[in-house]
Amino acid sequence: MRAATIACALASATLSLCAEQQAPLVGSPQLDVPAWSDSSAPSYRAELLSLHKSLVATESISGTEHDVGEFLVRYLADRGYTTRRQPVTPYNNTPAAKDRFNVLAWRAGADHDPKVLLSSHIDVVPPHIPYAIDDGDVTKETMIRGRGSVDAKASVAAMVVALDELLNAGAVDGNKLMLLFVVGEEVGGDGMAHFSNAVADKALPYRFDSVIYGEPTENKLACGHKGGLFCDVTARGFGGHSGYPWLGKSANELMIRAFAKILDTDLGSSETYGNTTVNIGQFNGGVAGNVIPAEARVVMAARVAIGPEESGAWIVRDKIQAIFDEISAESFEFECSHGYGFVGCNCDVEGFDTIVVNYGTDIPNFKANHTRYLYGPGNILVAHGANENLTVADLETAVEGYQKLILHALKQ
Ligand SMILES: *[C@@H]1O[C@H](CO)[C@@H](O)[C@H](O)[C@H]1NC(C)=O
Ligand SMILES: *[C@@H]1O[C@H](CO)[C@@H](O)[C@H](O)[C@H]1NC(C)=O
Ligand SMILES: *[C@@H]1O[C@H](CO)[C@@H](O)[C@H](O)[C@H]1NC(C)=O
Repeated sequence: MRAATIACALASATLSLCAEQQAPLVGSPQLDVPAWSDSSAPSYRAELLSLHKSLVATESISGTEHDVGEFLVRYLADRGYTTRRQPVTPYNNTPAAKDRFNVLAWRAGADHDPKVLLSSHIDVVPPHIPYAIDDGDVTKETMIRGRGSVDAKASVAAMVVALDELLNAGAVDGNKLMLLFVVGEEVGGDGMAHFSNAVADKALPYRFDSVIYGEPTENKLACGHKGGLFCDVTARGFGGHSGYPWLGKSANELMIRAFAKILDTDLGSSETYGNTTVNIGQFNGGVAGNVIPAEARVVMAARVAIGPEESGAWIVRDKIQAIFDEISAESFEFECSHGYGFVGCNCDVEGFDTIVVNYGTDIPNFKANHTRYLYGPGNILVAHGANENLTVADLETAVEGYQKLILHALKQ
């Protein structure tokens, strides 16, 4: 007997769930999880943990989302959902990448006219870290580790189970709801941008009143997140012998003086979002210790604490440009690929603690007018690290949280 079958019996889950656990699932290589004796476990625990494990165990670093997308399509189709693959162009022309696609799904009749969208992402940051779960009896405190266990496969699994439970209980109208799981969120959001364009072009005939975005917010409802500004900087001087620095022009020195000033300057702050911060993520310059460096390059990301969403980042860019001009107008090339000001979300829902977060999401990539909710299990502070983990309780609380948000959004 498979472990999950025992777990199912012990957790006194519904008969249909038990039957599903016993029957081989056609084309759906769902993975088993350890058993538990915890009588307070929700009936969906086996389904939730198994889905979460299957998602995390399937590698899906940005660009290579094919397999996890196929898994989700089969998983949802097995449960009676209509599914669609929306192809997205290969990321960075990665030759190894198989086809990648966004997954759209709904369980509805002919009158499918979704007003509430649940969305999260299926790509993760590198490197792949295998799935692991604490040994022994599963309790609410049991810890689950692995890449994507938090960001954002925890949101994906909890959203699917939350919706499935509501539909099975007849508590919501499937015609009003849709699931969207996108690729590429961690690398600029090409998946969501593609979906957004298709909606704007009416290639996809949807007009959502609300979108519930799944990202790690510690199961608190986010009132918004900081904006971002992403730029390359090149400083050009000219080389020479290091013994005669006044005869050359050090590109590294220009860069250091400029960024010292940038780090000490108020680039824009607000009460809710705090200060705009700058990360000098990459810094390269020069060729040897005894040569005045002729060229230096920085790749930077600013986290923008001011609005508006469309142009807040350009206000920050102009302040940084002014500092480069002041140091040496002719020496700097400053190019920002994209940016946006802070992104406000609706956090006015009863029964939730609230939070403000400093990271970016796919929200600004969906260019449509709808009420936005941002919520999900797990802590961002471990999300991209080697210690990415959450507990069974985090996942189960998220199922309840998503259900409350779905019901709230449907009433608006
Ligand atoms: C924001 O920056 C100011 C200085 O410009 C500093 O005094 C303040 O502590 C900073 N606030 C936060 C939240 O870091
Ligand atoms: C967005 O929709 C709301 C409500 O439907 C409306 O009041 C508002 O003017 C719209 N905003 C834009 C920018 O279209
Ligand atoms: C698990 O994640 C929490 C944050 O939720 C973190 O504080 C803790 O250090 C992590 N533990 C391990 C063992 O990685």
